[in-house]
Amino acid sequence: MRTGVRARRVQPSAPDSYAAFAPAPPVGRPVRAPRERGLGPRGFTGPAQGATSFVDAPPEWRGTSVQVCGLWPFAAGSGSPVVGVPLGQHLETGATVCGDPISYFRDAGLISNPSMFLLARPGLGKSTLIQRMCIGLTAQGVTPLILGDTRPDYTPVVEALGGEVHRIGRGVGGLNVVDPGGLSAVIPRLTGEARGRLEADRKGRQETVIGALLELVLHRPLDAPEATALSTALDLLNAATVRGTLPEVAAVITAAPDRIRSAVLADTDAEYRALTVGVLRAFGTVLSGTFGALFTGTADTRLDLGASALSPDVSAIPDTDSRLLGAALLACWTTGFAAIAGAQALADAGLGPQRYYFAVLDELWLALRAGQGMADRIDTITRLNRKFGLGWAMVTHSAADLQSLPREEDRRKAAGFIERAGMVVMGGLSDRELGALSDITPLSGAERARIADWGSAGTLNPVTGAEDDPPGRGHFLVKVGGHPGVPLRVRLTAAEAGLRNSNALWHPTPPNLRDAGTVDTGTSDGAGDGGGAAGAESGKGGDRW
Ligand SMILES: Nc1ncnc2c1ncn2[C@@H]1O[C@H](COP(=O)(O)OP(=O)(O)OP(=O)(O)O)[C@@H](O)[C@H]1O
Ligand SMILES: [Mg+2]
Repeated sequence: MRTGVRARRVQPSAPDSYAAFAPAPPVGRPVRAPRERGLGPRGFTGPAQGATSFVDAPPEWRGTSVQVCGLWPFAAGSGSPVVGVPLGQHLETGATVCGDPISYFRDAGLISNPSMFLLARPGLGKSTLIQRMCIGLTAQGVTPLILGDTRPDYTPVVEALGGEVHRIGRGVGGLNVVDPGGLSAVIPRLTGEARGRLEADRKGRQETVIGALLELVLHRPLDAPEATALSTALDLLNAATVRGTLPEVAAVITAAPDRIRSAVLADTDAEYRALTVGVLRAFGTVLSGTFGALFTGTADTRLDLGASALSPDVSAIPDTDSRLLGAALLACWTTGFAAIAGAQALADAGLGPQRYYFAVLDELWLALRAGQGMADRIDTITRLNRKFGLGWAMVTHSAADLQSLPREEDRRKAAGFIERAGMVVMGGLSDRELGALSDITPLSGAERARIADWGSAGTLNPVTGAEDDPPGRGHFLVKVGGHPGVPLRVRLTAAEAGLRNSNALWHPTPPNLRDAGTVDTGTSDGAGDGGGAAGAESGKGGDRW
């Protein structure tokens, strides 16, 4: 019902004694009539009647039709998507917000590729949010793969899910990068075109990861003859043995077979030596002191993709050894993605089950910091996986991690990780970081203010004398495309709080358990059931997605 009063055209009336002193209204000009009082959509109109210019969105709760049937007709569809893992409560409406890259891509068609980029300052709950996604996705039959847990943050969750944790580090366990993901065991099971495709895939992955290891110690990209020598040596080794190792690749180049000589256009021994000495020295460094026995192939970690969750744990490598850590992370990613490629090839040939995977690349900044060219290698590794039933999440502290790389091409590649991600999830960030980020993903003024607010430090509590939790802990904004972000708060369930405490050394009792009031037992917003319900609804496979 319209209650507004239109301005009407007033004809000049006959002058009375007072009107003679007032300026005469111009003839024919509309004059606004006094507002009539009445009930409008925003309350009673008119001065002092209490009409409001801004109407708050009413709070929303979600329940099953059994729980809320008596409330009809006030039950309504939610503004936030109800597809995927229940993540938390909408900060404005209180509605449950669901989401994960796999469900948004496969079930809702909201994003064009099943990927997610998560940024927030340290300690604000990034890994905790990803763990919640892992728990929910496991209930949907998806296998989480934590590709290189550096803390280890995910070990308790993976173990609680009945998954496998593989330790990687000096003297603990290694990875054979010449047999990424145990493809040597898969290739003989295939025939014809499928076998050829997987062999080519293995070669690409071998080149990427070995090239990256050599570049890390050389501090420069491989030049053309070096890359050719490596590629030809891999061809020779793959043809000669089922499962080669890194020392064998170096031995093939040292032996100077005719195929490599002619590939690098070396006519004499001296020329060959001059062209390959750099790459052979780099092999020496990778295989000896610097990287220890991590990549010699003697201890090889095999990932069993039949497990409910998997986590190669690289926490035995100290953070300060950034090159080794970067190399180990790259090797983990290659191994994990290659194992998925192998399982997918078997599924396509009808020799294995079709599975879906959620790969987590947490602490991306550690890998980017390891050396130049890492952004390029990460880009290659992630691009090789589009066609598999694989969703992934990259996690880092800020857009500055991506923008502070020394080379312009690395910065562009790294910015592409966010640009191409289907979902971008942001927690608290500083104003400066937000500037860099809004160049990559559009943010409204209100969204920027909210994220900057979450980025502020916790205040000192005068009663306890301790610092309160930072205001942004567990608060995130989910952006999908250019749409307005969905702000949400993650509240830990009692089970999650028991598993999670990456600040354990500092607070032996999890901070969230100290105040029982902040622990969500899973009954208030439906987020506590870890995605089981959502899984039952949306966990059907169909074809690959
Ligand atoms: N929603 C939440 N409610 C209460 N406590 C939380 C929440 N999320 C995380 N925490 C607690 O905050 C601490 C840091 O969490 P987490 O490790 O997930 O942060 P992070 O952002 O991944 O940190 P980093 O950048 O160091 O990796 C942990 O002790 C965790 O238990
Ligand atoms: Mg973390």
